[in-house]
Amino acid sequence: MPHRAAIIMPVPVPKPLAARPLLLVVDDEPPVLKVVERLAAKGGFDVVTCTSGAEAMRTLRRKPADLAMVDLRMPDINGLDLLRQIRTSVPGCEVILMTAYGAVDSAVEAIKLGAREYLTKPFDFDRLRRVLSDIRLELERRAQVVALESEVARQLEFCGMLGRSAVMQEVFSLIQRLAPHAKVVLISGETGTGKELAARAFHHVGTRRARPFVTINCSAVVDTLFESELFGHVRGAFTGAIEAKVGVFEAAHGGTLFLDEVGELPLSVQAKLLRALEHGEVQRVGSLQQKRVDVTVVAATNRDLRGEVAAGRFRGDLFYRLNVVEVILPPLRDRREDIPYLTAVFMRDCAARMHKPIHGFTPAAERLLFGARWEGNVRELKNVVERACMLTDGSLVSERELVGAFGPDTPAPPSRARAADVQQRNVESTAPLDEIERAHILEVLRQVSGNRMAAAKVLGISRRALYRRLERHQLSDEAPRPAPRRIS
Ligand SMILES: Nc1ncnc2c1ncn2[C@@H]1O[C@H](COP(=O)(O)OP(=O)(O)OP(=O)(O)O)[C@@H](O)[C@H]1O
Ligand SMILES: [Mg+2]
Repeated sequence: MPHRAAIIMPVPVPKPLAARPLLLVVDDEPPVLKVVERLAAKGGFDVVTCTSGAEAMRTLRRKPADLAMVDLRMPDINGLDLLRQIRTSVPGCEVILMTAYGAVDSAVEAIKLGAREYLTKPFDFDRLRRVLSDIRLELERRAQVVALESEVARQLEFCGMLGRSAVMQEVFSLIQRLAPHAKVVLISGETGTGKELAARAFHHVGTRRARPFVTINCSAVVDTLFESELFGHVRGAFTGAIEAKVGVFEAAHGGTLFLDEVGELPLSVQAKLLRALEHGEVQRVGSLQQKRVDVTVVAATNRDLRGEVAAGRFRGDLFYRLNVVEVILPPLRDRREDIPYLTAVFMRDCAARMHKPIHGFTPAAERLLFGARWEGNVRELKNVVERACMLTDGSLVSERELVGAFGPDTPAPPSRARAADVQQRNVESTAPLDEIERAHILEVLRQVSGNRMAAAKVLGISRRALYRRLERHQLSDEAPRPAPRRIS
């Protein structure tokens, strides 16, 4: 199977979402519901309407919406309280607050609580249409991002290993080049970085793929049984040796022997392993006969074997014999660019397996995934995504499900701001501070419909400081401005 490192294949452009996004409108005035329903249905939404906060929450729990438009003043609940409840119990649902009272304070409060927009009634219909269309496009883009990323990841997959980063592509290409020739290989890397996958990849692309792949996990063998496990024993070799036993070396004859966690091997057995590797011969316990074995040995360790050698816990000669070729699997935190691709594939697999219509992450969830420490590396990421998908009822996995999936040690998200656009992920993670500030100011201004005073409040700076920054970033013309009021 030729490896396609560094060649990005053209990917099919995903189709728009099969289902229309769901909008929930909550207002105690039926004419408002009617107007919004008509407009949103034309704009590509399925629409559900409710006349009270209690009914809205019941409906949302039954079927989480992608977007909720909430009236600020209703008889049974204040819109801000309803916004709070929705953000807590359905965090994947965007919220737009509507009010007949254009008070800056409640607009600011709404944005701080996580509202996406703030619309005043009577509606400016052009603006309402634009807001709905922006949100629908964004929902589609989010789903497409995951679909595209998983397509790309799948196309660059190497024997079940995913990784788009340059380091992982280099690892794949190294395995591809070495596998037909190497007789002994050492794979090192932290737990969960894919050492076993890499060992299997070696076997698969080498010349021995039709022959056995035999694994022995050195951390799971009782010290006294090591020799017999590796080399076998003859009947009666020791108490309890009722039958003769074939060791893993012999069992792997012609194929690959995977010595997992080789750093756990007791010193006494290390010398015997070295002899077997040097001479290509093994001796069953209790036998005088040497048997020739032809195996490729792939050893893996998550320990620093050089340090173990220095500390006298691992034989230097065995280390150098194993270390002829070393493949290092970098920890996930050193190749964060792989995270979106891994999560996209894991999410799509889980969604398909669980028959759930999940197709993306909220921006806050993405930041959380991107910024986590991932001490358990890809294994931990896979488990977290799987658990989060189990907890998700709607179409997007939000930070709430991730927090549930991480458990109590959830890392703090790198930024508390709600970036509305998933395209910003790269900007946020790698861009200079200046660019992040510029993008953030633009985003906040967009959220408050260009209202400078409201934006300054959300950003926690004075209005004058905001104007200074707009000038510095040359945003004075580009930044959104409040739409002229329409009387209707
Ligand atoms: N590059 C990758 N692409 C896809 N899945 C991966 C990748 N790396 C690891 N995984 C997945 O993560 C999990 C752990 O992988 P694996 O068992 O190979 O890690 P390991 O390095 O051997 O871990 P340990 O040291 O704990 O034994 C598996 O479910 C594996 O499928
Ligand atoms: Mg392993």
